[in-house]
Amino acid sequence: MSTDRSARLGRIRLGGRVPRHVAVIMDGNGRWATARGLPRHAGHREGMKAVRESVKAALAAGVEILTLYAFSTENWKRPKTEIKALMGVLQIYVEKERRALAQQGVEVRVLGETDRLNALSRRAVRRIEETTRGGRELRLNLMISYGGREEIVRAARSLAAEAQEGRLAPESIDASRFAAALFTRDDPDPDLLIRTSGELRISNFMLWQVAYTELYITPVYWPDFTQADFFDAVLDYQHRERRFGTVTTA
Ligand code: FPP
Repeated sequence: MSTDRSARLGRIRLGGRVPRHVAVIMDGNGRWATARGLPRHAGHREGMKAVRESVKAALAAGVEILTLYAFSTENWKRPKTEIKALMGVLQIYVEKERRALAQQGVEVRVLGETDRLNALSRRAVRRIEETTRGGRELRLNLMISYGGREEIVRAARSLAAEAQEGRLAPESIDASRFAAALFTRDDPDPDLLIRTSGELRISNFMLWQVAYTELYITPVYWPDFTQADFFDAVLDYQHRERRFGTVTTA
């Protein structure tokens, strides 16, 4: 273990409160590649390393849930070749990592409109979920074909259908009933949202769930994101005062 890494980890342990749920907008793969004169897909491929590093860092820090934005609803509008490359990276990731993830006690779930994926990618999703089922150390949510607005519309539609069938009284719909109709129904809201590559946007990511999430933006491009960067985000979080809209009593 490098001294950098262990020093940060030691500080996290002393700092006390570790975020239970960390979500990440992995951005900057394209710019990372372009800056090196490489095609964009080289950036996505390199991004797999940062995924591996983040999983290791989350396990070491004691995070319970790590949620990664891997492919957005809007990404379907990218050129066909890039979509194909991204799906290829997903398939490679699954075959390379699923056994190691299971050994590390990581349970993977893929959340999003997965019915839009092609047969090979759907098979990859099935394989990674099956191989890692029951992992107790860390839950890894891969958000694929995911959009925050689409998720909310879908939830509204399913609640409306239940109401129409007479199985749900409209006045019984509250925030927790609504949250139970989202893809993330089993999870607490993220405590910390990390975005790489310096953009100051939410980009349609977990719009409902990030209401009170602490934001951490780093200029680092995703393929360069290391365990030390992950720990820096957690250390920063440990200095935040979370008020959830209330006041702190002196
Ligand atoms: C944003 O960079 C990143 C993506 C659209 C895809 C993220 C995918 C990976 C990191 C691949 C590996 C992940 C898994 C889970 C297998 P961008 O292309 O928008 O970069 P740019 O803003 O610099 O163009």
